[in-house]
Amino acid sequence: MQRKRVAVFISGRGSNMSALIAAASKADYPAEISLVLADSPKAAGLDIAKEAGIPAFSVDRKTFPDRATFESRLDEHLTEHAIEIVCLAGFMRILSPEFVERWRSQILNIHPSLLPAFPGLNTHEQAIKAGVKLSGCTVHVVGPGLDDGPIIAQSAVPVHVSDTADTLASRILKAEHVLYPMALRLFASGAVKIEDDRVVLTDAPLENEMAIFSPPLFADQV
Ligand code: GRF
Repeated sequence: MQRKRVAVFISGRGSNMSALIAAASKADYPAEISLVLADSPKAAGLDIAKEAGIPAFSVDRKTFPDRATFESRLDEHLTEHAIEIVCLAGFMRILSPEFVERWRSQILNIHPSLLPAFPGLNTHEQAIKAGVKLSGCTVHVVGPGLDDGPIIAQSAVPVHVSDTADTLASRILKAEHVLYPMALRLFASGAVKIEDDRVVLTDAPLENEMAIFSPPLFADQV
């Protein structure tokens, strides 16, 4: 099996990155985490990646005069490490349409809501304010718009009346740590493909893997 070479872009603690690293440590996983890039030297996930023996670098946005020069440095790292797929994992920068086009159908993102509901910042506050009873997370291929692009997989969790943004975020984060490795496995193996900006399955039973109801949904209903 030829494992796909993956770069993970982070801005902070990198718990989704850690979940991807753990999944990719298994021999039968179709991707390897070959590079981690952070937009700030303060991103705690950089140390975690280095401890795991993964090349990890800060490309500090503040040290570049504009987005184009920042992104060409990202590109250099990606080329140098022969990267085939980029996973955004809590990366707090919006990539330019030019960068997204250069890496068309090769960038995945995880967002902590059931897109297209509640894109952008303050996702959990938005969900609580709207009074939804279900939220969750989405892994999608990055398109030119914000939190936009073909959806690969989603996981749903309940929203409780007593929830704060923090309690909802931590429930969803647990689902993220399951969903992202699963979605990357489907994508890197070629089981899920993007054609004309749409998700195409090469194996119909996979449909069952693309929608996950987190176990607490059922436990809480008993
Ligand atoms: C996650 O909730 C992710 O969905 C969002 O930012 C958070 C990053 O967390 N985009 P971590 O750095 O992966 O722990």
